[in-house]
Amino acid sequence: MRGIMEQAQQKRIVLGITGGIAAYKAAELARLLVKQGIYVQVAMTEAATHFITPATLQALTGHPVLIDQWQDDKGMAHIQSSRIADAIVIAPATADFIAKLANGLADDLLSTLCLARDCPLLVAPAMNKQMWANAATQRNAQQLLADGVVLLGPVSGVQACGEEGMGRMLEAEQLAQDIVATLQPKYLAGRSVLITAGPTYEAIDAVRGITNRSSGKMGYAIAQAAREMGAQVTLVSGPSAVARPHGVLVVDVTSAAEMFDAVKQYVADADIFIGVAAVADYRVAQPSEQKIKKSDAKLTLELIPNPDILAYVAALPDAPFCVGFAAESENLHEYAEQKRRAKKVPLLAANLAQQAIGADDNELVLFDDAGEYRLPRADKLTLARALLRHAAMLYQKGNEQ
Ligand code: PMT
Repeated sequence: MRGIMEQAQQKRIVLGITGGIAAYKAAELARLLVKQGIYVQVAMTEAATHFITPATLQALTGHPVLIDQWQDDKGMAHIQSSRIADAIVIAPATADFIAKLANGLADDLLSTLCLARDCPLLVAPAMNKQMWANAATQRNAQQLLADGVVLLGPVSGVQACGEEGMGRMLEAEQLAQDIVATLQPKYLAGRSVLITAGPTYEAIDAVRGITNRSSGKMGYAIAQAAREMGAQVTLVSGPSAVARPHGVLVVDVTSAAEMFDAVKQYVADADIFIGVAAVADYRVAQPSEQKIKKSDAKLTLELIPNPDILAYVAALPDAPFCVGFAAESENLHEYAEQKRRAKKVPLLAANLAQQAIGADDNELVLFDDAGEYRLPRADKLTLARALLRHAAMLYQKGNEQ
């Protein structure tokens, strides 16, 4: 196997916490980032320590928290920390701190660190709705955008003061996705990726139907990874309870016919199509509009084949680069290669249905014209990133020919 699963060098971020009630969410954010394998160095303003203790952040990240400009023996914490960082994230960022950043002030460790940086700065504002709406804050936020700072939020919602409005910090889960996205290599920048995910549901009558155990986890992970790599992503999803990836257009469908219609609607803009959905191969010929009444007689359902969405897309005259999936319960290699040839796709990811479906982890074998590559067991997001690195490489090669 070639080094598809090889991870880039560990990413490092400085997580700056300023003094607002949303500081408690920074603990969850730190935890999520560490979970993703990121080295997190926390730096807090003195005000932030009144909302959450440095001990909490130290325990979660495994590193002492920077607070005081003068606490470092060599007096150079600001330069050292920003030199090694791949990004600085301020979450939460108060109105006061945003004003400091907009004006280039550096009167404490965190603001000094921001001024002395040579890496992207991401700012997650959190404040009362009137403070956010204030002309001075709006002016400062505009200045940050003009300076190339990335603003993450705020959003509208219930605030700590009990009011409702704009100024609430994004949730930790969403911030973590945005931060990780910033750190990923942009292999798919400017590309449009269309993905199908989840199961389909084929009605038998008003309340019953035929479906399968696909959770949508694999397809949603691929959507998230594609977005991290800079793609514009459309996810056509069958019924799924998985949280929607941030920044992805999700088109909800139920049946294979609806999935097919949605794919036809979006495929013209797609550079890459990835069929992850477990599409029902058959549907009921004549579903009953009413609930079928129970009786002692035998009930026979007539099933007719559904259209093959992947084969349709791959056969389009101006087809996008197509990636198929194959869920097999036996003879994985043989059946997967057969499927790749039958559906005429350049890349196919095969997995064992009984291990993959519904699970958080998976194993994939990729088949392309040059051979096969095993992606060993890992969580679905890690596999999604590896699969997309390989797909992006093949797509790029194809365009160069
Ligand atoms: O959702 P999870 O719980 O995370 O599980 C993930 C998964 C096991 C569903 C996923 O990894 C997977 O294998 N998806 C493909 C499942 C499948 O239906 O495979 P298949 O061998 O039946 O179909 C082959 C390919 O044709 C697939 O890309 C499928 O999306 C596509 N297809 C199939 C039938 C059809 N009518 N239209 C299609 O586009």
